Amino acid sequence: MGKSKVLVVGGTGYVGRRIVKASLEQGHETYVLQRPEIGLDIEKVQMLLSFKKQGAHLVEASVSDHQSLVEAVKLVDVVICTMSGVHFRSHNLLVQLKLVEAIKAAGNVKVCCISLYLYMYNML
Ligand SMILES: NC(=O)c1ccc[n+]([C@@H]2O[C@H](COP(=O)([O-])OP(=O)(O)OC[C@H]3O[C@@H](n4cnc5c(N)ncnc54)[C@H](OP(=O)(O)O)[C@@H]3O)[C@@H](O)[C@H]2O)c1
Repeated sequence: MGKSKVLVVGGTGYVGRRIVKASLEQGHETYVLQRPEIGLDIEKVQMLLSFKKQGAHLVEASVSDHQSLVEAVKLVDVVICTMSGVHFRSHNLLVQLKLVEAIKAAGNVKVCCISLYLYMYNML
């Protein structure tokens, strides 16, 4: 199989960090979203730096800044979102829809893996 450019959203989370590791191990050009909202969360900052050391690219973008998300998504052909709290009606489901809007606006993404719920509710 060919290699992809992969953006992981939620990369410092329990699932996300494993996706980042797997993507790097499989030789994909791997991008990890770095949210300004994490501030000085030392664990997250250290994890992001360790991803960078392993060859990942850190991309600064925020779900509250549409244009920054579009620019991040334009860098890749695969987006994997491992954001927490995807349950219906939750705040983070609406946050994930902002990512979907950015993917639609960017128009270049071939594969996106967000939440089963989004497919179930036919929002994509
Ligand atoms: N853990 C499991 O065993 C498990 C099993 C099955 C399914 N899942 C599902 O997998 C998903 C991830 O679970 P997890 O356990 O990895 O969660 P987690 O450890 O809490 O990580 C989720 C990540 O989401 C990002 N995030 C949180 N709030 C955000 C916001 N407002 N805007 C943007 N990003 C935000 C953060 O990433 P950054 O700070 O890096 O941006 C955070 O590290 C969830 O939907 C969960 O239901 C988990």
